[in-house]
Amino acid sequence: MRKVTANVYMTLDGRGAFPRYPGSERPSTKVTALFRTMWYDRFDDVTTVVMGRRSFLGHQRTWSEKARPAGEPGWLLEYRRYLDRVEKVCLSHRLRSTDWEHSRILRGDLARILARLRREKGGNILVEGGPAVVRECLRRNLADDYWLFVMPVVYGKGPRYWGSMKAQCTLRLLETKPGEDREILLHYAAVR
Ligand SMILES: NC(=O)c1ccc[n+]([C@@H]2O[C@H](COP(=O)([O-])OP(=O)(O)OC[C@H]3O[C@@H](n4cnc5c(N)ncnc54)[C@H](OP(=O)(O)O)[C@@H]3O)[C@@H](O)[C@H]2O)c1
Repeated sequence: MRKVTANVYMTLDGRGAFPRYPGSERPSTKVTALFRTMWYDRFDDVTTVVMGRRSFLGHQRTWSEKARPAGEPGWLLEYRRYLDRVEKVCLSHRLRSTDWEHSRILRGDLARILARLRREKGGNILVEGGPAVVRECLRRNLADDYWLFVMPVVYGKGPRYWGSMKAQCTLRLLETKPGEDREILLHYAAVR
């Protein structure tokens, strides 16, 4: 069975934003431990990346190989190439087509979409935002596990990951990893 993992990048107050903090501006010449865990180590096992429309378009604009800025550290090119070649699922009611290769657009109930993807052939599935899609996974217990990259900032703005819930959702902590710049990576499994 294909596993569904949700990736979360959030500030301490649960905002889906990328603020600056000491160390975060330093251009890293090699892949950071946390980025390796969330992405590089998974290049072989994850074959489908699911994103909401805004995240999908944002990733295409920022992270496709075509969007590579001059002078960027070489290790990020591997990530760009991975995103270009992996199958991408864009969730959207509005979008009818895309020119990002290896992409398709699906719409409807997220539980049904993920169940459909799980039935298809392939490796594991990564839900890569945005916050509203991840929140729905959590609220409806749709993902098998969650990686939370927590930045050491209370930001006070940006989309919220968490909101009201119909019922409490308890996760099982599997692992914690400190980052180079005082971030923390938390790995939780869903409880079923
Ligand atoms: N990893 C990440 O992507 C990430 C991480 C942190 C923060 N952020 C930030 O979060 C923001 C984007 O997150 P967001 O939560 O606002 O938007 P999003 O989840 O990326 O996109 C929302 C859109 O996805 C579509 N959608 C979602 N579920 C759907 C479904 N079941 N069926 C059909 N369409 C569905 C809808 O598009 P239609 O209107 O086309 O129907 C909806 O308006 C950006 O500002 C980004 O910088 C992103």
